[in-house]
Amino acid sequence: MKLSKLLLGLMVSCAAFAASAQTVIKFSHVVAVDTPKGKASEFFAKKAAELTKGKVKVEVYANSALYKDKEEMEALQIGSVQMLAPSLAKFGPLGVKEFEAFDFPFIFDDTTDLHKITQGPIGAGLMAKLEPKGIKGLAFWDNGFKSFSANTPIKSAADMKGKKFRIQSSKVLEEQIRSVGGIPQVMAFSEVYQALQTGVVDGTENPISNFYTQKMHEVQKHLTLTNHGYLGYAVIVNKKFWDALPADVRGQLEQAMKEATVYANKIAQEENDASLEGVKKSGKTAVYVPTKEERLALKKAMAPVHSKMAERVGKETLQQIYQATGFDPNAL
Ligand code: LMR
Repeated sequence: MKLSKLLLGLMVSCAAFAASAQTVIKFSHVVAVDTPKGKASEFFAKKAAELTKGKVKVEVYANSALYKDKEEMEALQIGSVQMLAPSLAKFGPLGVKEFEAFDFPFIFDDTTDLHKITQGPIGAGLMAKLEPKGIKGLAFWDNGFKSFSANTPIKSAADMKGKKFRIQSSKVLEEQIRSVGGIPQVMAFSEVYQALQTGVVDGTENPISNFYTQKMHEVQKHLTLTNHGYLGYAVIVNKKFWDALPADVRGQLEQAMKEATVYANKIAQEENDASLEGVKKSGKTAVYVPTKEERLALKKAMAPVHSKMAERVGKETLQQIYQATGFDPNAL
C-alpha cells in the first residue's frame, strides 16, 4: 500500500515536472486557417510536438486573433509571441528595406525564379539582416502571385487611374500603385474586407488564396489575374528565445521547420488554384485573364518603379536578383 502511494506520488511529480518543462511557442499570423500559411503553421505545430516528443507545444493563432500586421512584429521583438510568418513586405517598415525587393512588380516570372532567391544565398543574406533586430529567420514559405481586384473591370493601367487600392505598408507597393495613377492606401489585412465593403477603398491586390478565404469575392465584382507581384513569407522567431532553447530541442524544431517548408511550398499553388475555383463557383466576381499584350502593357507601365525605388531598397540586392532571374527593367 505504502509503496503504491509512493509510486503514485512519484508519477504525479514526474507528470508535473514534464508539464512544467514543456515549452510553449505562440505562433501568430493574420490569414485564415485554410491558406498555405495557415495549413503550414498547423503542420509545423504537429511536427514539432512529434519530434520533440511533446517537449514543445506550438499554439497557432490564425486570422489576426492575437495581433494585427504591425503589432505582431512588435510582439515578437518583445517576446509576447515567439514565432510569426509575416509577408516579406512587412520587413521594410522594420527598417530592413532590402526585403522590399520582393514587392517590385513583375520582378519574378514564376516560382522557379523566386526560389533562386529565397532558397539560395541571397535569401540567407536577407535573413541575416534580421538578427540585429532580435529576430532569427528560419525559412521562406510561398504563397503566390498577386492579382488586382476592384468593383470595375481592370484591363489596363488606365482602369486603375484615380482608384484607391489597399496595399501592405511598403514604399515599393505605394510607388507601384502610383505608377498607374492609382491612390495607395496602407491598411491592416484584417480590415480589408470591411474597407472594400464600405467603399473606403475601391480595390486591392492579393494572392487568390487570401482573396477567397477573406471572402473578398463577396465585395469585389472584378478580379484580373495579373500575377504582377509576389507575396510570400519569412518564418521568424524571437532570437533570444530561440538561442536559449536546449540544442537538441532546437535541432528537432529545425527539422520540423524543414518539413513544414517542403509542405508549405508544395501546397501553395494547389491552395491558390482551389481558391480560384471557389471564386469562380461563387459567381460573385468576374474573373478576367488578361491577354499577353495587356499584361505586357501593365508591366511597361509599372517598370519605372524599379528605377525610382532602387536606391531605397539597395541597388546591390536588386542587381543580385536581376542577375539571378534575368529580369531587366530597362529592356521593357
Ligand atoms: C497582407 O497584408 O495582405 C498579407 O501580408 C497577408 C498575409 O499574411 O498573407
